[in-house]
Amino acid sequence: MPEPLDSVAVKPATPGTRPATHEVIVTRGLLRRYRMGDAEILALTGVDLTIDRGEYVAIMGPSGSGKSTLMNVIGCLDQADEGEYWLNGQLVSVMSERRLAGIRNREIGFVFQNFNLLHRATALHNVELPLIYAGIGRRERQERAQESLERVGLSDRMLHRPAELSGGQRQRVAIARALVTGPSILLADEPTGALDSATAAEIMQLFEELHRQGNTLIMVTHDSEVAAHAARQVNLKDGRIEADTSRAEAREDVDHVPEHV
Ligand SMILES: Nc1ncnc2c1ncn2[C@@H]1O[C@H](COP(=O)(O)OP(=O)(O)OP(=O)(O)O)[C@@H](O)[C@H]1O
Ligand SMILES: [Mg+2]
Repeated sequence: MPEPLDSVAVKPATPGTRPATHEVIVTRGLLRRYRMGDAEILALTGVDLTIDRGEYVAIMGPSGSGKSTLMNVIGCLDQADEGEYWLNGQLVSVMSERRLAGIRNREIGFVFQNFNLLHRATALHNVELPLIYAGIGRRERQERAQESLERVGLSDRMLHRPAELSGGQRQRVAIARALVTGPSILLADEPTGALDSATAAEIMQLFEELHRQGNTLIMVTHDSEVAAHAARQVNLKDGRIEADTSRAEAREDVDHVPEHV
């Protein structure tokens, strides 16, 4: 008797329970291995992470601990070898690359250390780009791009090109571009890495404001001062979560220090 198609699926993992609607990210047992010649490198060794809608999370950890690997999986740029990943109620860990690309465009806004803007294009056009890919008409595109630039405080710089903007303004354009599609999550990899400390503080203020407005933010950073802005800190070590602390818990710990200490 021929086997039913389901039983020959490439990724046969039986998914666990569907996440609750307030859980925008759920990973269970994520494992990612890289093959280098005969050697195998385990970049993620069983990551279980749940992030609720509206959370602001910093991912920290030493170099090589798996931060970028995890961000790439969460951002649908890469898929884990084992385990499951649910994004906004969809089981993306079993999706084809084509479907994954679609999910990525709709659900994820990326912010990078080096801004990744088109040099020849104006701020407005840079922010319009994801909407061009999404097939949205010119008029609506321009309106939404303008609104997004207004949200990051750049209404007076829409027609400037990146070279005519400061570092902080460039990062604001990149943030406006990440927000313009109305993604479920904003993923930032070292968003202040290329900025001086005053400008970095401004960008952190903007993130806090976006968080207050209800956006879900996930940021990778080496800098514990930057991470302290997030409400929750997840520490990776050797490809797994070593610590997961929310600021409220940390405050509670401080509150409970006995007076005589
Ligand atoms: N494409 C790849 N091929 C082989 N090994 C890789 C690849 N990408 C990452 N690795 C390995 O996987 C591990 C995790 O790498 P990853 O880039 O996720 O670390 P990271 O925490 O982002 O480090 P950093 O802080 O230096 O950016 C490392 O040991 C790294 O050498
Ligand atoms: Mg990295």
